[in-house]
Amino acid sequence: MTTAHAHPNIALVKYWGKQEKPGNLPATPNLSISLAGLTTVTHVSDAPSDTFILNSKETSDPKLVRWLEALRGTFDVPPLQIDSGNDFPTSAGLASSASGFAALITAINAHCDLGLNQEMCSEWARVGSASAARSIFGGFVALVPPQWQAIPMAKRDHWPLEVVVAVTSNEPKSVNSGEGMERSRLTSPYYNAWVRDATTDFAAASEAIERRDFLSLAAVAELNCLKMHSIMLTSQPTLSYWTPASIACMDRVRSLREEGHDVFFTVDAGPQIKAVCLPASADAVASALSETPGVLEVIRSSLGEGARVVL
Ligand code: PMV
Repeated sequence: MTTAHAHPNIALVKYWGKQEKPGNLPATPNLSISLAGLTTVTHVSDAPSDTFILNSKETSDPKLVRWLEALRGTFDVPPLQIDSGNDFPTSAGLASSASGFAALITAINAHCDLGLNQEMCSEWARVGSASAARSIFGGFVALVPPQWQAIPMAKRDHWPLEVVVAVTSNEPKSVNSGEGMERSRLTSPYYNAWVRDATTDFAAASEAIERRDFLSLAAVAELNCLKMHSIMLTSQPTLSYWTPASIACMDRVRSLREEGHDVFFTVDAGPQIKAVCLPASADAVASALSETPGVLEVIRSSLGEGARVVL
């Protein structure tokens, strides 16, 4: 048996929309930070036939089946038992597919001696879920053209940001991200503007990270997130991922900022709010969000490492 760990990542410049060609390629450059406080643990072992256990329950997952088929088109991979568990809500906008595919390719690579380096693991993770390409690496990671491999931008100790995740629902999301982004590409009247702006947002966020300029990063990351949700909301049928508690948390983050705290929010395809802050503000942010009506749980995290094999 081989075991790998990986952390989910949250995008500060989002990926929402794919290119119209094979390979699961994003339409826009995107970048993320890795979350040490949330972990996927995946065990891989030989088995008479493929078996998939998610959070201790045997399940079937067509996306995983297709991914294994693609992998077996290139490598000799025997039937496997894959036993994967998350210490955080699954399929609820906390990037469990990112950490899931990153942990899985890392474990299979070691278990079956595929001989992949991190860049190649990142490409295979991307085939499963594009954001998973970023979870192969730790710290600050970009997913950019022309190769659309994830590229480590800065290590986590470059800028020890903290993240407070406010969980407002444990329900799996109603529309998965792959289906949602295709709907947005085909129906949102603002999709082209979203694609057009992405390169500028990516450049501004990269520069803010390089200079550790919190206010600039906060401005571009919050606006980029709200642009993505505008695309979601203007898709037909609409994609509405927020709960009233999500909106209350966003308002609370803005008021914390007015009180002088260094914090901004970002939200993915789900109702959870991720408040990114400087360490000096983390206690105040965690206590304010845990007291916000509708918040079920607050998870605190520093920045994490990349996916790795553990004994
Ligand atoms: O990689 P996927 O299919 O799980 O899509 C990720 C989409 C967002 O989380 C909303 C944005 C992102 O860049 O992670």
